Amino acid sequence: MRFKEKVVLITGGSTGIGRATALAFAREGASVMIGDVDNSAAEVVQTIVAAGGVAYFQRCNVSDGAQVDDLVQQCVGRFGGLHAAFNNAGILPTTKLFHEADGDEFDRVIAVDVKGVFNAMKAEIRHMLNNGGGAIVNTASVAGVIADPGMAAYVAAKHAVVGLTKAAAIEYARNDIRVNAIAPGLVDTPMTSRWLADPAFREMFFAASPIGRAAKPEEIAGTVLHLCSDAASFTNGQIAIIDGGQTSH
Ligand SMILES: NC(=O)c1ccc[n+]([C@@H]2O[C@H](COP(=O)([O-])OP(=O)(O)OC[C@H]3O[C@@H](n4cnc5c(N)ncnc54)[C@H](O)[C@@H]3O)[C@@H](O)[C@H]2O)c1
Repeated sequence: MRFKEKVVLITGGSTGIGRATALAFAREGASVMIGDVDNSAAEVVQTIVAAGGVAYFQRCNVSDGAQVDDLVQQCVGRFGGLHAAFNNAGILPTTKLFHEADGDEFDRVIAVDVKGVFNAMKAEIRHMLNNGGGAIVNTASVAGVIADPGMAAYVAAKHAVVGLTKAAAIEYARNDIRVNAIAPGLVDTPMTSRWLADPAFREMFFAASPIGRAAKPEEIAGTVLHLCSDAASFTNGQIAIIDGGQTSH
């Protein structure tokens, strides 16, 4: 029960990594506020409440700063605080080589994956600054550390999440606000289900991967909880790569 009497805000908590992390936080005693554009977060809330936990879902498009401000306000109003935040909402563009990439799709990815994290961090930090600090974890990707072909917008966006994480980490460390990021490798979620359903992709990717498989979302959640916990009290501005060894080649 590391998060007993703590309040955690999670964006993109309807499915995949965000869902698994919401359930894990709730199991450890946190009250969980989920902001997402997908109403299936209601099922995540039901699952948490049925197990005796506390959770609430509010529809929120993270690319809209006013909606994110309102999400943080509702979280504080409902649960009486905000101690940790997991800024995880993201979208993946269609795979296209750089010279064929679509400019409108580039804008959409930047709006959700970069501006969404910026909006969330701003609102969370404004609250934490006046309320004793807190811990923030942003979801980057191995694409925030290395490049994969056909993913220019995503690579740019996730490198920007790494930059936002470091920028905030150095500004607020003396205010007891720690800001870190996770950089998952391939995780089996709705985002990657089309790739993972393709035998040729699986064969190619798993042959090159040291661990030879995709992660389960639960295998990512553990690191998020650690980074938000007191055990990580001196960890700040770090990018936790969780990739089964993929980027160690
Ligand atoms: N699956 C992977 O292999 C992988 C690897 C590295 C990083 N990531 C990142 O992990 C995060 C979670 O992805 P996932 O794999 O769990 O996929 P997912 O599609 O299951 O989850 C993404 C969540 O973000 C929500 N979302 C999308 N746009 C939003 C918006 N504008 N406002 C609010 N919520 C929005 C979706 O509804 C969904 O709940 C993303 O940031 C993704 O880029 C995923």
